[in-house]
Amino acid sequence: MKKTKKTIKVSGDATLAIHVGEDKFHKAASVGVEIARTANFTFASTEEMKRWAEGKSPAYIYTRYGNPTLTIAEKKIAALEGAEDAVVAASGMAAISSALLSVLKAGDEVIATRQVYGGTYRMMRDMFPRMGIAVRHVEADLAGIERLVNPRTKALYIETPTNPTLRLVDLHKAVAFAKEWDLISLIDNTFASPVLQKPIEMGFDLVLHSATKYLAGHSDVIAGAAAGREALIKEIRHMIIYLGASMDPEAAFLLIRGMKTLEVRMRRQCATAMTLAKYLEKHPKVARVHYPGLASHPDHRLAKRQMRGFGAMLAFDLKGGLTAARRFCDRARIFLLAASLGGVDSLVVLPIYTSHYNMSLAELRAASVEPGTVRLSVGLEDAEDLIEDLRQALA
Ligand SMILES: Cc1ncc(COP(=O)(O)O)c(C=O)c1O
Repeated sequence: MKKTKKTIKVSGDATLAIHVGEDKFHKAASVGVEIARTANFTFASTEEMKRWAEGKSPAYIYTRYGNPTLTIAEKKIAALEGAEDAVVAASGMAAISSALLSVLKAGDEVIATRQVYGGTYRMMRDMFPRMGIAVRHVEADLAGIERLVNPRTKALYIETPTNPTLRLVDLHKAVAFAKEWDLISLIDNTFASPVLQKPIEMGFDLVLHSATKYLAGHSDVIAGAAAGREALIKEIRHMIIYLGASMDPEAAFLLIRGMKTLEVRMRRQCATAMTLAKYLEKHPKVARVHYPGLASHPDHRLAKRQMRGFGAMLAFDLKGGLTAARRFCDRARIFLLAASLGGVDSLVVLPIYTSHYNMSLAELRAASVEPGTVRLSVGLEDAEDLIEDLRQALA
């Protein structure tokens, strides 16, 4: 009997990530994902070409416009985010810039939380004014947001949890505000991943990802994605095509391969992060641990309400300040001293030399970042080994 997708209904993240977008129910189908390593595609006849030109039949033409391997990645991301559609892009910034440029035009304004990824912040600060788009910033608690809205405001852009102190934006509050003022709501869901947070289900219009991070998960590819309503994704897809910001099929393969283990990676990485956060909280040289899973975190209750896990990013402030923080980073052996996050290898960085470089002490304090703040991206190594690395690096 020929098996069809109708034989079983699946809804779990792990199953969706492994199976959605792939048709393996025919003889000699490859179980592994095939890479359509091609720039262009053939037509069977001029009649087929004519039908495509008339918009009567969809077709793959040219990889910048679309490619079967990219489609598999897009279907998986849409399924995981609970979205109608998704589009992949060459990087997180390609997805974020294409999404914002498809939603905003000259004369428009966007309200954005201040603590967004540095690249996003700088794009809004340096590029948007040249295009006649104004940005108004609000803190993560959205205090006073109603004072920022005016008839030109078209979008609300947020990121939660924030980097590096893992503060949370109240998703229900953000959605309610966007709906009240008829704004397109966008969220960078990179830090949580759809395993821990599904903003579309809560009413967000667009979810964005640096798929370089948890979705791909192995620190071996640069990738981005946007998910949301079909009509909005269609516009973003056009923008990606105009800008030439399309994903390469080889990158799509790595993204798909990574996503197949996203759920299990995320669960294990969250559990290890919790173990490390508790260890660090008791350490005499640590002044403060920033991890939403700890009762001491200011957004712990909100995290319990809106997230399905507390994430695998954490930060801590060392009592010895910058000197102690540099010493810790230089002594760490398993935690690699490297930018980025979300992969199987645990990483450590000093925010004052990365995301918060060149900020005054007052700006750092406003972001709750100390010169001695250390950020960890907890990977998939054994928790005992990671604790031993923390112990020896702090000794
Ligand atoms: C939260 C967040 N959003 C977006 C980006 C940008 O993604 P990419 O480097 O894939 O362009 C990053 C990258 O560090 C990030 O951490």
